[in-house]
Amino acid sequence: MPAKRRRGFLIVFEGIDGSGKTTQAKALLRRLRRRGLKAVFFREPTRGRWGREIKRQAARADSLMPEQELELFVKDRRENVVKNLDPALAAGKIVVLDRYYFSTIAYQGAKGIDPKRIRRMNESFAVRPDLVIILDVDAAGGLARIANRKTRDELFEREDYLVRVARIFAGFQGPLFVHLDGRSDKRAIGRAIWSHVAPLLSE
Ligand code: TYD
Repeated sequence: MPAKRRRGFLIVFEGIDGSGKTTQAKALLRRLRRRGLKAVFFREPTRGRWGREIKRQAARADSLMPEQELELFVKDRRENVVKNLDPALAAGKIVVLDRYYFSTIAYQGAKGIDPKRIRRMNESFAVRPDLVIILDVDAAGGLARIANRKTRDELFEREDYLVRVARIFAGFQGPLFVHLDGRSDKRAIGRAIWSHVAPLLSE
């Protein structure tokens, strides 16, 4: 089971590529800081050695097997938990995190690895979030938003896959998760996010 109680808060943003989660994560970070709260931002994959290895592998034509990919994401996460998340939370900070192990469940799960196994594996070491905000968009909508970042061929190949990823994201339910429609107006999404974060901080 996910471990340790600590003083800070961990707020995670999840969603498929092009869902707008990074924009919203950064907007929340600014909002928290404007209120004088101590907030820090991290992302996965990280810029650390395993995160850089993930990027390097992703750029190669012969891509990794799903199990190898899973292993790299988990190594990167272990490092992120130990070096970044645990210390910030122990110092009482609010951590805004762009992707966490729900991405692994969705992305590597969509490649055929048992999502329950991925979840167990991660929850054996990863600190439990206080809130997971999922921006739901369909694969075509997400791809349209990042169209200028990728070539047409890449996009075509990815749509099928992202449909499965989006389906797994949509399936996360329970008190930890908030689903928001990623197609809504940016500021309206920001207000909805705040309506979930503010009560948490005043508990
Ligand atoms: P992303 O945050 O979108 O990075 P960038 O800002 O460079 O676009 O993450 C890169 C990709 O990695 C994204 O397509 C999702 C994928 N990913 C996984 O497949 N598994 C994981 O565990 C994580 C964290 C990300």
